[in-house]
Amino acid sequence: MNGIIEISGIEKEYRMGKITVPALRGIDLTIMQGEFVAIMGPSGSGKSTLMHILGCLDTPTSGDYFLDGEKISAMKKSKLAAIRNSKIGFVFQTFNLLPHLNVQKNVELPLMYSGVSPRKRAARAREVLSDVGLGDRLRHKPSELSGGQRQRVAIARALVNNPAIIFADEPTGNLDSVSGSDILTIFSNLHAKGHTIVMVTHDSAVATRASTRVNIVDGLIG
Ligand SMILES: Nc1ncnc2c1ncn2[C@@H]1O[C@H](COP(=O)(O)OP(=O)(O)O)[C@@H](O)[C@H]1O
Ligand SMILES: [Mg+2]
Repeated sequence: MNGIIEISGIEKEYRMGKITVPALRGIDLTIMQGEFVAIMGPSGSGKSTLMHILGCLDTPTSGDYFLDGEKISAMKKSKLAAIRNSKIGFVFQTFNLLPHLNVQKNVELPLMYSGVSPRKRAARAREVLSDVGLGDRLRHKPSELSGGQRQRVAIARALVNNPAIIFADEPTGNLDSVSGSDILTIFSNLHAKGHTIVMVTHDSAVATRASTRVNIVDGLIG
């Protein structure tokens, strides 16, 4: 069986002047289509570094990465950007919405980059926003929403391109427990519908919502 994600021997070193910081020290991991994986570990263990590599935001120092059968580890930056836009949706701890755009326009943004017509963009954005329970907040600016609502906008934006995988880095880290639980329910529902989700968290209670748990300690899977 082939995984939608297959990595082997992934190492990442950050170079800081004369010092190199080994953030990942040889990671092997296979993630199957439709899995909901929680990547857990203490602060500084390499979770975000791994997610940035899996999400094609950064490249490894060495090792192989296959995403959906394509060899990612040998790709140029420009090709990586195209893969990211067509196959990957991101949800970040700090939401990363554009403050001057309203909710609908924030969600339309990935479709603008992929050249979808304005009418189709608007219709698709409204559809995913209604799926996350924000069909009545289309013209609000991010500053006019609660944290939980902002994260739901970010999830809608991650879903709008129909990505093969959704990556979430500490998606409940800036939320109160009730809003955090609502966000996890949305991820559970997406998983039940067949979406592949990779979520980074340092919180084992959050990780219990996933179907598979992977522990990272000091840049290695433990
Ligand atoms: N851009 C960077 N430059 C230098 N070192 C970094 C950078 N990003 C992360 N690191 C280091 O790599 C290690 C792993 O960091 P990170 O992946 O952010 O861990 P986590 O997300 O688990 O908290 C840490 O020692 C951190 O200090
Ligand atoms: Mg992190």
